[in-house]
Amino acid sequence: MLETVDLTIRFGGHVAVDHVSCRFEAGTLTSIVGPNGAGKTTYFNLVSGQLPAGEGRVRLAGEDITALPAPLRTRRGLGRAFQLTQLFPNLSAEENVRLAVQAREQGRGRGGVPAWLGGIDLWRVWLDHRAWTDEARAMLEQVRLADKAALPVAALPHGDQRKLEVALLMALDPKVYMFDEPTAGMSVDEVPVVLDLIRALKSRKDRCILLVEHKMDVVSELSDRIVVLHNGRLVADGEPRAVIASPIVQQAYLGAVGAEAGAPAEPVGAPSRPSPAERGRSRHV
Ligand SMILES: Nc1ncnc2c1ncn2[C@@H]1O[C@H](COP(=O)(O)OP(=O)(O)OP(=O)(O)O)[C@@H](O)[C@H]1O
Ligand SMILES: [Mg+2]
Repeated sequence: MLETVDLTIRFGGHVAVDHVSCRFEAGTLTSIVGPNGAGKTTYFNLVSGQLPAGEGRVRLAGEDITALPAPLRTRRGLGRAFQLTQLFPNLSAEENVRLAVQAREQGRGRGGVPAWLGGIDLWRVWLDHRAWTDEARAMLEQVRLADKAALPVAALPHGDQRKLEVALLMALDPKVYMFDEPTAGMSVDEVPVVLDLIRALKSRKDRCILLVEHKMDVVSELSDRIVVLHNGRLVADGEPRAVIASPIVQQAYLGAVGAEAGAPAEPVGAPSRPSPAERGRSRHV
């Protein structure tokens, strides 16, 4: 479904993603783990087109999409959780989700007769609008935001905004779902809501799911496979139990566990840098 070949990007002298070659199949959930600064988010940015690749290729369903800008990759079925900057802050939560549903339907060539093809079909416009609104409401219900559907996005607390990002991605229903720390900054009540949605998505067996996550209990429960990045390089890839037990993971992550327990150790070779998603997150892997 999705493949990267020698995907690389340099920032000055620093190789943030270093010749990463990897394939991700439909019906599987792959977690991408690694210490802070390992290159996980940058890898996602290269795959989704937020950053141009310095070297290497990205293929989606057999098509080389390396040269495509992010919106065209989205159209082809590559779904990255929206960032708040991509939402309409003054529109309500429901209106934001409805726009994502509408974008999906119009991308699939449905959603009303174009005006130039014999005038506007008002009946169809009304029916579509109602169906999109109903779907948006159902989606908000799933992320437990139904009671806040009418609130402008800008007025939602951080945890709710993150749940809304997940709702928008679900509304788009891409072939490839990319979640970058989807539960970071959420309260303990909110985390299971999002994990249940990811579980349900996985049980459909027809979507390719990529998950960047620091909580190793979540990773080992959800993943069919784990890929480990370290200093931009892919250093381990395989079945969860074997990867977690591998010396490279033990060496890198026992440092992180030690740090949590009060020891001075950082993961080996990990630059110390606050992550954008750090808010409210405990430091695990
Ligand atoms: N736009 C940029 N310009 C310069 N350096 C960057 C840029 N984006 C990322 N980097 C650097 O690339 C490296 C990888 O960063 P990245 O955010 O991908 O790590 P990460 O694995 O997602 O970490 P975290 O777990 O903290 O989210 C870091 O050293 C980071 O400082
Ligand atoms: Mg990151």
